Amino acid sequence: MKICVYPGSFDPVTNGHLDIINRAVKLCDKLIVAVLINTSKNPVFTIEERVGFLKCALKDHPDIEIDSFSGLLIDFIKEKKANAIIKGLRAVSDFEYELQMALLNKNLDPDVETLFMMTNINYSFLSSSAVRELARHSGNIDGFVPECIKDEILKKFKKAGV
Ligand code: PNS
Repeated sequence: MKICVYPGSFDPVTNGHLDIINRAVKLCDKLIVAVLINTSKNPVFTIEERVGFLKCALKDHPDIEIDSFSGLLIDFIKEKKANAIIKGLRAVSDFEYELQMALLNKNLDPDVETLFMMTNINYSFLSSSAVRELARHSGNIDGFVPECIKDEILKKFKKAGV
C-alpha cells in the first residue's frame, strides 16, 4: 500500500491546493493531508480553523485523512509509515526551495520520495498569502477558496482586523 502525505500550512486551503489533492488521491492508495501546527510563518488561522477548513472542503472525500503535525515532516512520514511526500509547484520560483527541502528529506530518509505535481494553470497565480491579502482588504475571493469556507475567512479579517 502506497501512502502519500501532502503537507502544508494551509493558511487557508485554496482551490489550488484542492486541485493538487484531487489529482494526488488518484495516484496513491492512501492520501494524508498534513497541516503544520507551528509554522514560522505565524499563521493567521489557528490549527483548528485550518484543519476545519480542510474537513469542510473535503467532506465528500472520506477516504482522505486530514491530520496535523509539529516538528519535522520526515518524523511524521515515519510515524505514518508513508512512502512519499506530495508537493505542488506553481512556478520556477517555487522550485529552488522545494528542491532543497526534497534533498534534505531524502538525506534524512532515503526511502521517502518527494513527488512534484505541476499546478493547474488556472491556479498558477493563487496562494494562501494572496487570499489573505484579498480578504484583509475585503476583496473578492470567489473561486479562489472552497465556497463552504469563504465567509469564515472574510469574517475572521473583519472581526480581528488581522
Ligand atoms: O504550505 P507551506 O508553508 O509551503 O508548507 C511548508 C511545509 C509545512 C511543507 C514545510 O515547512 C515543512 O515540511 N515543515 C516541517 C519542518 C521540516 O520538516 N522542515 C524541513 C527540514 S528543516
